[in-house]
Amino acid sequence: MYFYASKITRQMGKIIAIANQKGGVGKTTTSVNLAASLGVLEKKVLLIDADPQANASSGLGIDVDSVEIGTYQILEHSHAPREAIIQCSAPNVDVIPAHIDLVAIEIELVDKENREYMFKKALESVKDDYDYIIIDCAPSLGLLTVNALTAADSVIIPIQCEYFALEGLGKLLNTIKSIQKIHNPDLDIEGLLLTMFDSRLRLSNQVVEEVQKHFNDMVFTTIIQRNVKLSEAPSFGESIINYDATSKGAVNYLDLAQEIIKKNSK
Ligand SMILES: Nc1ncnc2c1ncn2[C@@H]1O[C@H](COP(=O)(O)OP(=O)(O)OP(=O)(O)O)[C@@H](O)[C@H]1O
Ligand SMILES: [Mg+2]
Repeated sequence: MYFYASKITRQMGKIIAIANQKGGVGKTTTSVNLAASLGVLEKKVLLIDADPQANASSGLGIDVDSVEIGTYQILEHSHAPREAIIQCSAPNVDVIPAHIDLVAIEIELVDKENREYMFKKALESVKDDYDYIIIDCAPSLGLLTVNALTAADSVIIPIQCEYFALEGLGKLLNTIKSIQKIHNPDLDIEGLLLTMFDSRLRLSNQVVEEVQKHFNDMVFTTIIQRNVKLSEAPSFGESIINYDATSKGAVNYLDLAQEIIKKNSK
């Protein structure tokens, strides 16, 4: 009886998509290092690489050329997520890797019924096994990203503290609104995340001010600073926590993980 009751009250895992159709804003860096930080804080994490570039997979040391079962196979429902899961160097983090073949999925799915729900359906079988499921999206608003946003409980939007930081943000927010309306009314914005902040640059400071003024408490308190260690770590196939736990980058991503845990335990 007690066993039954505890099963009912167990909190389901939270699916967080990391999305922005703008390229190079820090989606993958955030996915990998947020996943690793949550893992270090003893949360059980599944990181899903939903970008054919497969940067999140290779950044965690996975040989992407040898991936046979990955995100593609999960989305076409030919394999269950559990068959695709690989363990990586980051403690408490499982990965569903991508392979370049994922580019074809948009064409494959286009005339399928319920094509926007392929991720959501596939993840039902693993959702309860994790505290957090992080999806690293590709820089596009195509069917792959729509699938991720339809499956997600919330979305993190990385914004680079650079020229044209807000370019395309309106379009992304409109896409999120239409997904909330049509496919996923429960989709929340977990937060806007300022990335690659350089305190020495006036522009960086201006972007922070502007974004905080416009979006107030939608913006994470944690700001990710520009830190060369964050760009070096992927070439060693390691998260920043493994690569240099004392770096600014590691401290920033651990702070972000803590902010998210706190927000979700209220
Ligand atoms: N805080 C940071 N400090 C220094 N370099 C960073 C930081 N964040 C990201 N980078 C570097 O900037 C580049 C782009 O980052 P990343 O790959 O995370 O962006 P992305 O949004 O995933 O890109 P894409 O749109 O191509 O998927 C990478 O070379 C990465 O190492
Ligand atoms: Mg990326």
